[in-house]
Amino acid sequence: MTPAPAIGRSANVSQESLLEFRHIEQQLKISREERLLDQSQANRELIRNLAHEIKNPLGGIRGAAQLLERELERPNLHEYTQVIMKEADRLQLLMDRLLTPHRLPQNAPLNIHEVLERVRSLILAEYPQGITIRRDYDTSLPLLEGDREQLIQVVLNIVRNAAQAMHGNGQITLKTRVVRQATLARRRYRHALELQITDTGPGVAEDLRERIFYPLVSGREGGSGLGLTLAQTFVTQHHGTITFESQPGNTTFTLLLPIDFSEHARPGTGNGQ
Ligand SMILES: Nc1ncnc2c1ncn2[C@@H]1O[C@H](COP(=O)(O)OP(=O)(O)OP(=O)(O)O)[C@@H](O)[C@H]1O
Ligand SMILES: [Mg+2]
Repeated sequence: MTPAPAIGRSANVSQESLLEFRHIEQQLKISREERLLDQSQANRELIRNLAHEIKNPLGGIRGAAQLLERELERPNLHEYTQVIMKEADRLQLLMDRLLTPHRLPQNAPLNIHEVLERVRSLILAEYPQGITIRRDYDTSLPLLEGDREQLIQVVLNIVRNAAQAMHGNGQITLKTRVVRQATLARRRYRHALELQITDTGPGVAEDLRERIFYPLVSGREGGSGLGLTLAQTFVTQHHGTITFESQPGNTTFTLLLPIDFSEHARPGTGNGQ
């Protein structure tokens, strides 16, 4: 009897329990993510229905204010009808934004770096001074199956949030990588794109962290709280995920997108390389 096998066995046992522990941890993470996704889908449905209900009477209110204005003899009263019309228009715009995400994506092969470059030039035009955008691109990335306009919107909303959080002063990094064997929304893909958008701003406020993707949640003066909701809807339509980690001086939003989302349905076909 030598001590060697005993050591080997205990090493095996602890390795097994470590693997088991990792497995449980992963399952918990997946079920938490699914719960949050269900919850946010239910919330979104509720908001959409509400937006529909608000839109109809809004048209009536605006029309009535317009008619009323014509009948008013004292022009100084127009100030009030103008307020009604202006506010009705503002609400109408908000409702339209709440209702847009349901356009079906029009997918085609695209180069994610073109999407990033487009966003980069839009943001640099918006912030000609104070914001620098660093690129850390994996140029070996294959083309991605996706809706170009929607993906521009997703990245633009995240990058614009970063620029706004930094009050127009700081650095944003756009980083792309390939991830192998990714599980996204319960499906397994051989390849996924990881896109990270990092900023050097103050970080996401503590009290917003759990709700940041919910509609109408904003920590910004004048913000409508729809940018990230829209981003999450589009990313979900692309079978991907969006998460973030944040601390003062270092906030990263991470997108994981299947490179070819039909890949999971045709295992072993060698497609999506
Ligand atoms: N990079 C970031 N750093 C700090 N806070 C952030 C960052 N990104 C988002 N946030 C916070 O999350 C909130 C929600 O963002 P979201 O884009 O959904 O709405 P918004 O920017 O307030 O309004 P909208 O995008 O509709 O104009 C922001 O108001 C902000 O408080
Ligand atoms: Mg925003």
